[in-house]
Amino acid sequence: MSTRPRTPAPSTPAPGKLPLPELAEMKRRGDKISMVTAYDAPSALLADQAGVELILVGDSAAMVMLGHESTIPVTVDDMIFLTRSVTRAARRPLVIADLPFGSYEVSDEQAVANAIRLLKEGGADMVKLEGAGRMVSRVEAIADSNIGVIGHIGLTPQSAIKLGGFRAQGRTAKAALRLLDDALALEGAGASAIVLEAVPSEVATVISEALTIPTIGIGAGSGTDGQVLVWHDLLGLYDGPAPRFVKRYADLAGDIADALDRYVGDVRSGLFPEAQHTYAIPADELAEFQAGVAARRT
Ligand code: KIV
Repeated sequence: MSTRPRTPAPSTPAPGKLPLPELAEMKRRGDKISMVTAYDAPSALLADQAGVELILVGDSAAMVMLGHESTIPVTVDDMIFLTRSVTRAARRPLVIADLPFGSYEVSDEQAVANAIRLLKEGGADMVKLEGAGRMVSRVEAIADSNIGVIGHIGLTPQSAIKLGGFRAQGRTAKAALRLLDDALALEGAGASAIVLEAVPSEVATVISEALTIPTIGIGAGSGTDGQVLVWHDLLGLYDGPAPRFVKRYADLAGDIADALDRYVGDVRSGLFPEAQHTYAIPADELAEFQAGVAARRT
């Protein structure tokens, strides 16, 4: 009989992994949930060490990692590549991979097939998708396939053009009530949590109180059950204005620019490398080498 350990079934959490039901327990206890995006292994390791509960491999990668103008162009293959890097490093946090635009709108079957790819090929623990309405049935189909799924309503970047740009949502009574209904429908369909993006704080608080599953806010005030920020926003990894809801905890773009300036200056002036950055050769070997070189010249 083989002694090789059996590969756990997809529904079996890896050792040390935060159990998904713990999210709802945290909400019940009033413990806030921290989520951050990450797109590579070193960032995922740092996020894990910082104690975040959730890492989102967001389709924001299209803009902050891949240089696109919007999230539309990123593909399932791109998301699998990025997710695989994150899941190699993240141990305790649940890793959620975004279903990118075009990977779930066509049918429930398409949504389930691509969610399966993100789990099997990317190693994700769960998936996230944007929208309600027809997307409620996608959430239900994915949850019914025993895959954890997170909803995302409010400002949904994949439909930014339809929404008239990256602007706050739910700012009229009617729109706010629709968001509440959407959130309840997603919960009813089996979502394990809901991201609320760019929604007035009061509206997000009412929605959070109406649900038993946690809400994770981004630009939705402090009444949600958790918060999420994009890695590059949180760390100040780019120049220029950030959305209103971003709190920058560092200015890494400035630090990196400064470090690169000093590096280029040192290379040009010969200050780098110094003796401690190079390898030694024993004196007798060097003498023999130099003799060998001289012999070739004669
Ligand atoms: O793609 C992403 O990073 C997201 C967050 C903004 C929630 O969906």
